[in-house]
Amino acid sequence: MATTQRVRFDVLERVVHWLSALLFALLVVTAIPLYFGSLFGARLPRFSLEQVHLWAGIAFPVPFVLSLLGPWGRQMRRDVRRVNYWTREEIAWLRSLGREPLEADKFNPGQKLNAALVASSMTVMLVTGLILKWFSLFPLSWREGSTLVHDLGAWLIVALITGHVVMGLSHRDALSSMVTGRVSERWAETNAPRWLRDKTGESDSQGA
Ligand code: HEM
Repeated sequence: MATTQRVRFDVLERVVHWLSALLFALLVVTAIPLYFGSLFGARLPRFSLEQVHLWAGIAFPVPFVLSLLGPWGRQMRRDVRRVNYWTREEIAWLRSLGREPLEADKFNPGQKLNAALVASSMTVMLVTGLILKWFSLFPLSWREGSTLVHDLGAWLIVALITGHVVMGLSHRDALSSMVTGRVSERWAETNAPRWLRDKTGESDSQGA
């Protein structure tokens, strides 16, 4: 029987997501030897590691920022607004740790909170990373503070992204929508009913 499909992410959103994932993986792989001195026993040239780490960090926000500009970013801008918009019911749901009833939107409150924490901590990592690199431009107290915040932030962001990956792997339909762009209306009925009923014309439907 044909299942009606709904577009959840357009091509640009998927490309930005996977590029960000790639750059984040590069940041983590280069951060390990910078912090521990070796990558699982392999000693790598520190200067090259630092360059790859630094430029992966500087490149990190570029795909996202570019995706917001221009006519191509219509759906990305709409989704960013959705992620940033909180209803009273969503806050109550989060406060009750999911016990309150909720008619979820396209993104549930857990996803919204994760997105806000990832965006703010990556901004902090970028700013402190730039201070670590161009340290001579800043007073000593800023450099010391940045080293501490960058090191502690690294643990936090790795924990946040690990949580995000675990949730993705345990919700296969949500994960595959980040590959194919689509979800079934049956999935949306259970997981995102408010979005399903939103007739503002943000996405098309197609029998598959
Ligand atoms: C977002 C942009 C980022 C920039 C511009 C940046 C930049 C830097 C720079 C310049 C250093 C100093 C390298 C050295 O000591 O030679 C550094 C170190 C480090 N970064 Fe980043 N970084 C960023 C993001 C991240 C992220 C996401 C993580 C999380 C895994 C991370 C984890 C680390 C760690 C663990 C160190 C080693 C600190 C130490 O030696 O105590 N960085 N980063």
